[in-house]
Amino acid sequence: MSANDQLPKSDSALWLIYYTIEHVEHAQYWQSCLADLTVQSQLIEAEKINNKFLKLHPDLALMVDEDGLWLTANGMKMQPAWQDEVPRLKRANPKNELIARACQIKPQLHSAVKIIDATAGLGHDSLLMASLGAEVILLERHPILFALLESAKKQAERHDYLANIAQRISIIHQDSAHYLTEIVQDQADVIYLDPMFPARDHNQKSEKKQAQVKKQMQLLHLLLPEDGEMDLGDALLDLAKSKVKRVIVKRPKHATFLDEQTPDHQWQGDAIRFDAYFQN
Ligand SMILES: C[S@@+](CC[C@H](N)C(=O)[O-])C[C@H]1O[C@@H](n2cnc3c(N)ncnc32)[C@H](O)[C@@H]1O
Repeated sequence: MSANDQLPKSDSALWLIYYTIEHVEHAQYWQSCLADLTVQSQLIEAEKINNKFLKLHPDLALMVDEDGLWLTANGMKMQPAWQDEVPRLKRANPKNELIARACQIKPQLHSAVKIIDATAGLGHDSLLMASLGAEVILLERHPILFALLESAKKQAERHDYLANIAQRISIIHQDSAHYLTEIVQDQADVIYLDPMFPARDHNQKSEKKQAQVKKQMQLLHLLLPEDGEMDLGDALLDLAKSKVKRVIVKRPKHATFLDEQTPDHQWQGDAIRFDAYFQN
C-alpha cells in the first residue's frame, strides 16, 4: 500500500497512540497535550512496537517511545528528527547559506535577527536559521504537527549540540493569519513563509523528484488536505508585508510566485529559491 492510499484524518477524528508499558507516562503526557489542543486520542498498549507491528497497524496514528512522539502510517514512522539535521547544521555557514543571506542572519550582529516562521512544518528551516544565530518563532496550525514539533524541541533540549540552538526557538500553535494580524508593526525583523505547494504545478520541473518524496514528506502529506482544498498561503503574503520590512518566501525553483506577486529580489539555489519582498 502506498502512503497516498490513505486520506487525511478529519479534525474530529480519534487518534490512537501506541506505546509499550515502559513509556506509559510519556504516552499519558502526550495524550493530555493533545487534549489541550482539542485532539481526542486513545492510548493503546502494545507488547512490542517494531516494523512488523507498524505494518500490521497501517492506519494513520501516533506512537510514543524513548525518542518522543512519532507519526505512523503504512508501516512507516516519522518525526521531525532534528538530531538527524546535526551534520547539515555543522556544515552550515551564514556566508554560504542562501537562507541566511535572504533573512540577513549575520553572526556578528549585536542582537539576534528575530524571525517569525509562519509555516513551521517540521521546523527544519527554522532549526537551520536558529543554528546560524537567529531567534525564531515557529507558527504551526496543525495540532499533530505542533505536537511533533514540541516533542522535537524537548529532544533537542537534551541533545549536546542542539540544546543551545533550541533556546532560540519558540513554537506556537496558531493560524498565522490570526497571529500576524495581532502582532505590532516590526515585532520581528523577518517573516519567513514556506507554504505547502501543489503537487502538480505546471511551472514545476521536477515531476521525477515528486516521485522520490522522502518518507517524512509522504507521512506529512497524509496529515494535510489534498491539493484541491490546500491553502497555498497566498493570503499570508500581504499580511506579512504589512507587519515587517522583509518577507522571505521559499519556493521550489520553478514554482509560480506566491500570490502571483513579483518579488523585489531572489536568491536561486539548485532546487529551491528564496523570493524577497521589502517594504520601506
Ligand atoms: C511546506 S511545510 C513547511 C516546511 C518547513 N519550512 C520545514 O522546514 O520543515 C508548510 C507548513 O505550514 C503550515 N501552515 C500553512 N499555512 C499556515 C498558517 N496559515 N498558519 C500556520 N501554519 C500554517 C502547514 O500546516 C505545514 O505544516
